[in-house]
Amino acid sequence: GLVGLGFEVNVDYVSAVAVDLAGDVVLSRSRGLDGAGASDALSGLVAETARALSGRRLAGVTVGVPGLVQADDRTVAWAPNLRLDDPRLSELVGGVLAREHDGAVPSVRVLNDANCAAYAETRRGAAAGVAHALYLTGTIGIGAGVVIDGRLLRGAAGFAGEVGHLPLGRPEDRCGCGRAGCLEASVGLMALCRAAGLPPGGTPTAVAREVAARAAGDAAVRGAVGDLGRLLGSGLAALATVLDPSVIVLGGYFSELGDLVLEPARAELDARLPSPAQPRPQLRASELGLVAAATGAAERSWDDVMDGSAAL
Ligand code: BGC
Ligand code: NA
Ligand code: ZN
Repeated sequence: GLVGLGFEVNVDYVSAVAVDLAGDVVLSRSRGLDGAGASDALSGLVAETARALSGRRLAGVTVGVPGLVQADDRTVAWAPNLRLDDPRLSELVGGVLAREHDGAVPSVRVLNDANCAAYAETRRGAAAGVAHALYLTGTIGIGAGVVIDGRLLRGAAGFAGEVGHLPLGRPEDRCGCGRAGCLEASVGLMALCRAAGLPPGGTPTAVAREVAARAAGDAAVRGAVGDLGRLLGSGLAALATVLDPSVIVLGGYFSELGDLVLEPARAELDARLPSPAQPRPQLRASELGLVAAATGAAERSWDDVMDGSAAL
């Protein structure tokens, strides 16, 4: 049968998901880069996925990336934390599929990772059916997918939701984008490693496990993670003030760490919303975890066949 295929390439991991016509996940894989280059890791996963799906036809193929993608849904305009040998991901993935898959290969679309994840979380995950939702990644970069009236906000150039580079971090924290004071420089995965006294590196899941273990036995680490949670919460208050979502879904390491970071974030969010009359948005941990973006990418691949319109 037909499947929609989705991939995510991130700074420290790659994922693949295939979803069939009924919406069932028929393949789901995620792995750390372990020092490999992002392009090589992606190529390897694409090849292996193509072989695993032998005999299945591809309804569409979409790749989620940690950066801004031009409105053509192909060209990576800017990915501040990702080192790519070649930014032409559509060609890279299409080329590997053409070599390794036994069926016809549709053209490969590229979308922002957080937008893909928001799409999946509002369709089948922690915010299923929620019309006004905000999704935030907890990865090296912090990205958002903004859902308003059940639709993902894209903006004029397609770049809406770049909240990781809003100046909501500590002024002294340097960001991968070259500036200082960005939200992701203070609450992204690197900041978490710093807070817990860990060397940088590893998937959000692996880092979160290590941090949780350290926090359990070390009050200073617990305190530093709490500070990070409060900073995240004040950033969320700024976003919620503009967008008024009913649910905020936190992905990546945020969801893995759970209440260790969600509780201080929630307290700060509640305290910082401008009006006591404003209903407090619910803070929920992602249900799809590290495959959220690849799942959304796979779902988006189906939309091509279903109605031909760009819903994202
Ligand atoms: C990028 C975003 C991305 C986020 C999460 C940020 O650094 O600018 O486009 O969504 O990281 O990967
Ligand atoms: Na986004
Ligand atoms: Zn930045």
